[in-house]
Amino acid sequence: YRRLRVALLGAGAVGSQVAALLLRHADELADRAGATLELVGIAVRDLDATRDVELPRELLTTDPEPLLVGSDIVIELMGGIEPARTNLLQAINAGADVVTANKALLATHGPEIFDAADQVGAQVYYEAAAAGAIPIIRPLRDSLAGDRVQRIMGIVNGTTNYILDRMDAEGAEFADVLAQAQALGFAEADPTADVEGYDAAQKAAILASLAFHTTVPLDKVHREGITAIDKDMIDAARHAGYVIKLLAVCERLPGDDDTGESISVRVYPALVDRAHPLASVHGANNAVFVQAEAAGDLMFYGAGAGGVQTASAVLGDVVSAARRHIAGGKGVGESTRANLAVAPIGRV
Ligand code: HSE
Repeated sequence: YRRLRVALLGAGAVGSQVAALLLRHADELADRAGATLELVGIAVRDLDATRDVELPRELLTTDPEPLLVGSDIVIELMGGIEPARTNLLQAINAGADVVTANKALLATHGPEIFDAADQVGAQVYYEAAAAGAIPIIRPLRDSLAGDRVQRIMGIVNGTTNYILDRMDAEGAEFADVLAQAQALGFAEADPTADVEGYDAAQKAAILASLAFHTTVPLDKVHREGITAIDKDMIDAARHAGYVIKLLAVCERLPGDDDTGESISVRVYPALVDRAHPLASVHGANNAVFVQAEAAGDLMFYGAGAGGVQTASAVLGDVVSAARRHIAGGKGVGESTRANLAVAPIGRV
């Protein structure tokens, strides 16, 4: 097989699992990709940090620079805006295809990253940026490209679903369950991102941009978190036949002849009828319920958080990137994004 150089930036909960799987399944991945995926280095902040899985010391470096030039595929799993943004742009401009799970970066600087990639014929893969292990980016961008998505209702944050689920099932206290979610590794480094809905809003912006073939800026996403939800509200909802879920709702709003259609994207704690499929999404799982004009109702369900689960989506992207290299390289293959028509963003 041809050898492709793969660099990894970040070895946290997801990154360390990606590295471990790349090394453990090297032969199988080579068969599937049609190329040997050689992990050439892993850029980390701290060489001695305790990691979920042990990684070969000789691959670790605190200097990402050499990895950004001369790699065929760069996987960015550092999170945060900087230095992730600068590193990704550098990798793209040096000729790499990039794989990222960085929802914060894509939701705020997506157009910049995609434009940079378009200019050099590179590809940005980000299946892991929304809803963890659940395949949802490709279905929205590719499988449903011939349909018209009307609405998405998603549980896209595992931490808040875990908290609300435990409060509902066990009458647990908010603070106790948040601590559990942190210990289990679902929560963001700063759990404010989870409980205040920022993480879900970033994912909603990404999903809505794909579903509606536009660019939804993060500041157009209405956001409410779950910190105001207490046990009494959860009990009252239960007695009325509902469960409270933090939903990301992305929908087309009909306009009149003058205004045309607009798009509404909002994240808020919603009352979900207990008979609705989204009501039975428990624990840190995620689900994305998609309503499309021709396809009807679709639901994508699975692990929305967790290191090894999210690593699955990252590795799928790595194999896709490798196949594209083998098939003819840059300038060939699918379009990175789908923002063709631009509808105004509105809010109900
Ligand atoms: N903190 C996120 C969540 C991790 O709880 O869903 C996955 O993006």
